[in-house]
Amino acid sequence: MEITRVAVIGAGTMGNGIAHVFAAAGVQVVLQDISLDSARNGLGAVRGNMERQVKKGTLSPGELTAALERITLTTGIGKAVQDAELVVEAATEDQGIKEEIFRAVDSAAPPEAILASNTSSISITSLAAVTGRPDRVIGMHFMNPVPVMKLVEVIRGLATSNETASTIAAICARLGKTSVEVNDYPGFVSNRILLPMLNEAFFCVMEGVATPEAIDTVMKLGMNHPMGPLALADFIGLDVCLAILTVLHEGLGDPKYRPCPLLKKMVAAGRLGRKTSHGFYDYGDGRT
Ligand code: CAA
Repeated sequence: MEITRVAVIGAGTMGNGIAHVFAAAGVQVVLQDISLDSARNGLGAVRGNMERQVKKGTLSPGELTAALERITLTTGIGKAVQDAELVVEAATEDQGIKEEIFRAVDSAAPPEAILASNTSSISITSLAAVTGRPDRVIGMHFMNPVPVMKLVEVIRGLATSNETASTIAAICARLGKTSVEVNDYPGFVSNRILLPMLNEAFFCVMEGVATPEAIDTVMKLGMNHPMGPLALADFIGLDVCLAILTVLHEGLGDPKYRPCPLLKKMVAAGRLGRKTSHGFYDYGDGRT
C-alpha cells in the first residue's frame, strides 16, 4: 500500500518533526493537537526547522512552501484520521493517554489504515490490544530531532502482520530514513541501551563523582558522542527519561533499571530540561 495521507496525533517536538518529514516527502499531513494553539505552535516549529534547511541549502524555498501547504491543522481526532492511510500517534508518553487515543483512532480511521505509535517504550502489543485491528498496529519510533536523525526503530507487536511491517519499511525509506525492525520488549533496543547510560550519568551527578560539565566532556571527547549524556537527557526531557526508566524497571523487573532518585527529584521540581529552561543545565538564554 502506498501511503499518501497521514494523520499525526500530537504536535509537540516529536509530532511536529514527524509532520515535517512526511510533508517534505510529498505526503499530505493532518496535524492534530488538543488545542489549536498547540497545533499552530507545532506548525511554527516545522516552518522554523524547514527555514534552517533552506539556509543550509538542503531544501529550496519552493519545496518549503509546498511542504507547508501539505500540512493542515485540526483539534479533533475523528476529523484528523477519517481519511488517513497511516496514523502516527506522538502524544504524551503515558500508557492510559495512548490507549485512549488508540481507541478513538481505531473507531474513526478507515478500517484498512495502519495505526503507528511513536512511543519510546510503551508496549505496542498492549496498544494494539485496545483496537480491533492488532495486525495493523506497529511502532514507528523516530529520534529527536526527527528531520536530522536517520533512524526509525520499527517495533512489531505480537500480532503485527508482515504486510504492515513492509508498508512501514517502504514509507521510512521514502522519508530518507533507515528503519530497523525490533520486537516488542520494554524500551525496545534504543532506550533499553540508551537510558541505563543516562541513568548512570544521573547517579554520577548525585554521588558527586563529577560535575555535569565534566561528565558530558568525558563522554563527548572520550567516546565521540555528539552530546554528553546530561545534555542529551535535558534535550529528551527528564520527565520522558523517568517515564522510560519506569517502564524498563517495571517491565523487566531488574533493579539495575531503577530510576536515579536525583532524576525523580528534578522531575518533581518541574526541572524537565530544555523545555522548562532548567535541567542539568540552565537554558536561561531562551533555548527550548
Ligand atoms: N530540524 C532540522 N534541522 C535541524 C534540527 C531540526 N529540528 N536540529 C538541528 N538541525 C540541523 C542543523 O541545522 C544542522 O545542520 P547542518 O549539519 O546541515 O549544519 C545540524 O542539524 C546540526 O545542528 P547544530 O549545528 O545546531 O548543532 P549540533 O551540531 O550540535 O547538532 C544535534 C545538534 C543534531 C542535536 C546533535 O547534537 C546530535 O546528534 N545529538 C544527539 C541527538 C540524539 O542522540 N538523539 C536521539 C535522542 S533519543 C530519542 O530521540 C529517542 C527517545 O526515545 C528518547
